[in-house]
Amino acid sequence: MTKVADEKVVVLDFGSQYAQLIARRVREQQVYCEIIRHNLPAARIRQLAPKGLILSGGPASVYQKGAPRCDPAIFGLGIPVLGICYGMQLCCDALGGRVRSVPAREYGRAQLRLIEPDALFADAPDELDVWMSHGDQVTEVSEDFVPLAATETCPIAAVRHRSRPVYGLQFHPEVTHTPLGSTILRNFLLGICGCTGTWKLGDFADQTVQAVRTRVGGDRVICGLSGGVDSAVTAALLSRAIGAQLSCILVDNGLLRKGEARRVIEEFTGHFKTDLHVVQAEEKFLAALAGVVDPEEKRRRIGHAFIECFSEEATRIRGARFLAQGTLYPDVIESGGSQDGPAATIKLHHNVGGLPEDLEFELIEPLRDLFKDEVRRLGSQLGLPEDIVWRHPFPGPGLAVRCVGEVTRQRLGTLREADAVVVEEIRAAGFYRKTSQAFAVLLPVQSVGVMGDARTYADVVAVRSIDSEDFMTADWSHLPHDLLARISTRIINEIKGVNRVVYDISSKPPATIEWE
Ligand code: XMP
Repeated sequence: MTKVADEKVVVLDFGSQYAQLIARRVREQQVYCEIIRHNLPAARIRQLAPKGLILSGGPASVYQKGAPRCDPAIFGLGIPVLGICYGMQLCCDALGGRVRSVPAREYGRAQLRLIEPDALFADAPDELDVWMSHGDQVTEVSEDFVPLAATETCPIAAVRHRSRPVYGLQFHPEVTHTPLGSTILRNFLLGICGCTGTWKLGDFADQTVQAVRTRVGGDRVICGLSGGVDSAVTAALLSRAIGAQLSCILVDNGLLRKGEARRVIEEFTGHFKTDLHVVQAEEKFLAALAGVVDPEEKRRRIGHAFIECFSEEATRIRGARFLAQGTLYPDVIESGGSQDGPAATIKLHHNVGGLPEDLEFELIEPLRDLFKDEVRRLGSQLGLPEDIVWRHPFPGPGLAVRCVGEVTRQRLGTLREADAVVVEEIRAAGFYRKTSQAFAVLLPVQSVGVMGDARTYADVVAVRSIDSEDFMTADWSHLPHDLLARISTRIINEIKGVNRVVYDISSKPPATIEWE
């Protein structure tokens, strides 16, 4: 493992939906941050030598039996601690406070009033908007704590320990609804932990390039390209590290977006001069999908066909010892794949499009310490063009899971054109970077329409556009009506066989982002 940064802060994860967001916010302050298990022993934490500890929120109540707790010895390490929400309740509980469920639960915006000046609130006004989400609160603290701030219903909304560097915030500084949240985090990181805030992605890239060179030596590395951002950045980084020792494989499964395969081929043969092997496999995938309507069966068959194509091509590449994958930090965390990290959370169906396990290669995962936004920035630094770096995520099984019902060449053609219209119009209106994922879905429904004097009975296209921080939850994008109107008019006018367009206004949960 390379040493990623000279100084770091760790987040102890108590099951918060925001643990990764906290880590990202810390990195935005140019302090390297990792997520660890909530109960990692203090001795191990001391070995990791973080400059600060952040205890995340979590769904439990500290007074419940079996509630997750940290090793109490962490409060004696002399390392500054910031408890957020449940994390604050835990600090207070462990160090002599009282936490109770209170009738006035607080969810949403609240007005925080500072009652005691402190370095944690440097540069903040006396009153500020904060985001609360709690049913429990600290109702009493021991003499050892100084209350720093209050809201109308929460008299102890921020605390500091008198003799130890232990702080607590009942609100969430990591969410955008706390506008001064990053100032507060910065105060903690730089002012209280003494971090320098000099962690840079560019340095990370240089270190990784060096580490890859050392590890690979004179051997060959294979990297799968999918058209997506992660694999493109992985390949670009490897290309910088080992140039001609890199071979890339692109399986064109016929399920990619319009122009996607061509764009990747142009970039990697033109700009990066990579040894690129393109496997033309549309026929094979169409044959595998013939007559299949069940979404899970589609995924399974696509996964198999992919492994076959990839393995066959990979075995043709002589002397390859390594396989590079674009695994990101959230994948590592969620799959429980980090030594000190939290246990695996349920990872759904998103492993399709992954690479074969039985190929005898050593894995290289140069992005496994990075979040998606960092990967995008790194991609730009490595010289990848905007349209590749900022491309919306696309599922491994591709258009097949957006072609609800049977996947045929003709239906895929209709869907691909409709999707291109959606993306083109959203781009033209300046919404591509504001939305997180926008696409078309072809429904297995025909509806009656009228064109000229004739009645039609034709396909329905659903347009989906969502806004999301992490793709675990999402809201539908509130796009301007005239933009939706342009999308609808163009799809109906330009694409034969479609006479109706609908806009999907479901949030996740309960709906998912994809339709299948
Ligand atoms: P859902 O539909 O579960 O999607 O809300 C969440 C995110 O994951 C993507 N997705 C997939 N990615 N293989 C992938 O690589 C898949 O089978 C898959 N299914 C969904 C989806 O596009 C969204 O970004």
